[in-house]
Amino acid sequence: SSGHWIDRRGRPLEDIRISLTDHCNFRCRYCKPKEVWNDYKAYLPHEELLSFEEITRIARVAAAHGVTKIRLTGGEPLLRKGVEELVADLAQLRTPQGRPLEIAMTTNGSLLRRKARALREAGLSRVTVSLDALDEKIFQSLNDVGFPAAKVLDGIRAALEAGFENTKVNTVVKRGVNESQIIPLLEHFEGSGVSVRFIEYMDTGNSNGWRMNDVVTAAQILSIVRTRYDIEPVAPKNPSETATRWRYGRSGSEFGCICSVSAPFCRSCSRLRVSLDGTAYLCLFAESGVDLRTMMRAGGTDEELAQALGRIWSARDNHYSELRQSGPAQTGKRVEMSYIGG
Ligand code: GTP
Ligand code: 5AD
Ligand code: SF4
Ligand code: SF4
Repeated sequence: SSGHWIDRRGRPLEDIRISLTDHCNFRCRYCKPKEVWNDYKAYLPHEELLSFEEITRIARVAAAHGVTKIRLTGGEPLLRKGVEELVADLAQLRTPQGRPLEIAMTTNGSLLRRKARALREAGLSRVTVSLDALDEKIFQSLNDVGFPAAKVLDGIRAALEAGFENTKVNTVVKRGVNESQIIPLLEHFEGSGVSVRFIEYMDTGNSNGWRMNDVVTAAQILSIVRTRYDIEPVAPKNPSETATRWRYGRSGSEFGCICSVSAPFCRSCSRLRVSLDGTAYLCLFAESGVDLRTMMRAGGTDEELAQALGRIWSARDNHYSELRQSGPAQTGKRVEMSYIGG
């Protein structure tokens, strides 16, 4: 059987985000604070991770039912050994109309100088690099391992040299920490073809101590941008985009805001998340997911895998960020961001 899967709120499944590892060489305060993430023994043994074959299989079955985009995340996805082989496998997949899938990656950029060319040759479509500050002191204390912003910038340069287009930078803005970096980041990337997206700090996971007061809202971000630039809204390309976009500065420059706290976009959310061990999650803020790995390893057929995915998606009613707006939305433990990949 083919045909698209639609959830209980009328949203089609179009996009799968797959976490390749929960390892990361950074300890960003808002994601993996050191106090909580110091126990390396907690990491999963290799055989518990989905293999590249298993990941490709999920993507292939989903592509037959309307998925057009696969995003590889982590943790830090470039820490997964042989990741370019996975990209090459995924790049072979086709939609029912015969088009290749879009294969994107969200990375902290620390290994991009080394890997950009191989990733491009393997068929990766796009990279998005997280970079919260240009100022070395701010950036190094944010990643909490003293990793230089200069090296991330060099990684971004490597991506451009390797021929990646539509490269993006993700900047999580936290009050009192890096609002000062909004203008410098826009200036730095003005005219470069790289667009910066400012992200409202979210209450993901259970360990970042999130408070509403730490959020710099899109309205506040925009008023900071307007102190320096005239801006003009850009029409969305597709309804499930996470970012609202504006044009600024020199011709062609664009930036975005991912404002899921002040303006949730659940209504058009077409994303399924798959954790490193093969559990499917219907929302970034889900408390639990559905194990796909066991059935695949028990000899489940593609048809059975498709049925399972269709069943999971059809029952979906998640819309956490909308619920958050009317007060504390969920009391249970949320899945950690590095486990399902943002
Ligand atoms: P593009 O394809 O380049 O637009 O990427 P993307 O925005 O879909 O993904 P990316 O990994 O760059 O994520 C950017 C930010 O948006 C991160 O902070 C994600 O956690 C957040 N994000 C992505 N998808 C969702 C979502 O469905 N819900 C919420 N609340 N946040 C999301
Ligand atoms: N709120 C918003 N964005 C976050 N990210 C990680 N933690 C948070 C959070 N608490 C971002 C990372 C990366 C993307 C996958 O998610 O910076 O760019
Ligand atoms: Fe690592 Fe990304 Fe989490 Fe930072 S946000 S600790 S780079 S996984
Ligand atoms: Fe999708 Fe959940 Fe994010 Fe809403 S909060 S946009 S349902 S992942």
